[in-house]
Amino acid sequence: MCVRLPNPKVTYGQTMKRLAVQDILNRKAKEHTKITALTAYDFPFARLVDQAGIDIVLVGDSVGMVCLGYETTSSVVMNEMIHHAKAVKRALRHALCVVDMPYGSYDDPATAVENAKRLVHEGGADAVKPEGGKRIARQISAMIKEGIQVMGHLGMTPQSVSKLGGYKVQGKTEQEGAQITSDAKTLEGLGVFSIVLECIPHSLGKHITESLRIPTIGIGAGPDTDGQVLVIHDLLGFQSSVHPRFVRRYADLDQMIRSAVSRYRDDVMSGAYPSMKESFS
Ligand code: KIV
Repeated sequence: MCVRLPNPKVTYGQTMKRLAVQDILNRKAKEHTKITALTAYDFPFARLVDQAGIDIVLVGDSVGMVCLGYETTSSVVMNEMIHHAKAVKRALRHALCVVDMPYGSYDDPATAVENAKRLVHEGGADAVKPEGGKRIARQISAMIKEGIQVMGHLGMTPQSVSKLGGYKVQGKTEQEGAQITSDAKTLEGLGVFSIVLECIPHSLGKHITESLRIPTIGIGAGPDTDGQVLVIHDLLGFQSSVHPRFVRRYADLDQMIRSAVSRYRDDVMSGAYPSMKESFS
């Protein structure tokens, strides 16, 4: 019989403070230190990211492409976001938990509030992240009025990938840059506590960051944003066929896992696994 051990009792992070939105705001306003963010979609990854001292764990709708095998993030639905958010939240002792609002879940203010509340109550989100600027101002405003913390997302917004003509750098022209800057100002005015800036020129990332009091979190937005976020699977070298320019790979887990699994397969085939030491008398 296979004996499954329960998850080890989490003892790390007991001296680490659980971060709140105000701590993230203070990083820019008072402490002048960078903000670190990473995605996680399940308990084991969230536990490791949290233990490493990352400030914000984002349950991104990238879960659809990274874990669920969808072609785009737009296929992800609310129940999937809640399922993954719950697993992540159970692991966190330190990081702020931000959960993406999936495509179609914030089409109007009432729907946005209803779904954001589900992400908070059922998923355990500390904050939610919809994509867009002025276009979704009424939805953002309604959520904030209900006391829900909101993170913005501008630039290359994957839920609008077909409208944007693909996964392309946004804000390259003066007009586009001015539009994204104006959207960022609008979001700040509405009360979002930070804004993800995705795939924009580094000069625009710097300009927007300097124009706002709230922190910017960049992904492909250059070194001058107040923080950085990456999809953890990119950083760890999963799915090696995708190499966005802004991703720095810190490991090659694709290769490591394939090699470990092949060795296991070879050992089973040859009878080298299990040994008597790995068997019960
Ligand atoms: O879904 C996601 O992972 C995101 C990040 C890329 C910012 O929104």
